[in-house]
Amino acid sequence: NLSGSEEAKRNAAEKACELVTDGMVVGLGTGSTTAHAIKYLGRKVVEDGLKIKGVPTSYASEALAIECGIPLTSLTESPELDIAIDGADQVDAALNVIKGGGAAHTREKIVSMSAAKFVVIIDDKKYTDVLARSVPIEVIPYARRLVEKELSKLGGKCTVRSGTGKDGPVISDNGNMILDCEFGRILEPAALSVKLSRIPGLVEHGIFTNASMVYIGYEDKVEVRSRK
Ligand code: A5P
Repeated sequence: NLSGSEEAKRNAAEKACELVTDGMVVGLGTGSTTAHAIKYLGRKVVEDGLKIKGVPTSYASEALAIECGIPLTSLTESPELDIAIDGADQVDAALNVIKGGGAAHTREKIVSMSAAKFVVIIDDKKYTDVLARSVPIEVIPYARRLVEKELSKLGGKCTVRSGTGKDGPVISDNGNMILDCEFGRILEPAALSVKLSRIPGLVEHGIFTNASMVYIGYEDKVEVRSRK
């Protein structure tokens, strides 16, 4: 029995998976919404003989995909993906996205940019007019103080993400730290994205401007928005 928002996540995830057909190389995002997609695709592979290969965006998604029976490949072997499916923390009306709540946004951005189509799956509570959530930022520990200074010049207020079950900072799958940076309402996400990407030692930030489609799940329906 799923809660309402889990049901909404699963509805979006399973509807988006209808885009996946035989022969595709599929980017597998990270997080609780994408987990529904990975489980659904796994059932299609195991029970219906769907022939796909997955490229996971994290250790967690790799392990889940293996458990679900999805054959995997890598970006080195298959650099051109047909589709990437991934969750998000917030999506605005122009389909700009904030990701990285699970500290996986660097690999997620690499995988999404490698795909012909990047499909974002969310429940309706994550859809908003203007992005206003803190932006996850992966930073090389050596550069942390410089990155914090440059972020504050851009009006950002940062905290170092620290984990549950561990003293000290959360460390990403790439061995780096995560800053969560508040910018208030982000009226120009694309412009902020470019400014963030210029900071030395900032590995990747969680603003994505490359979503092709967003599947918004509700308890009883799914709405699809495409980039204009
Ligand atoms: C992982 O770092 C994130 O980008 C996730 O895709 C995002 O946080 C959404 O996660 P949930 O589906 O668990 O909300």
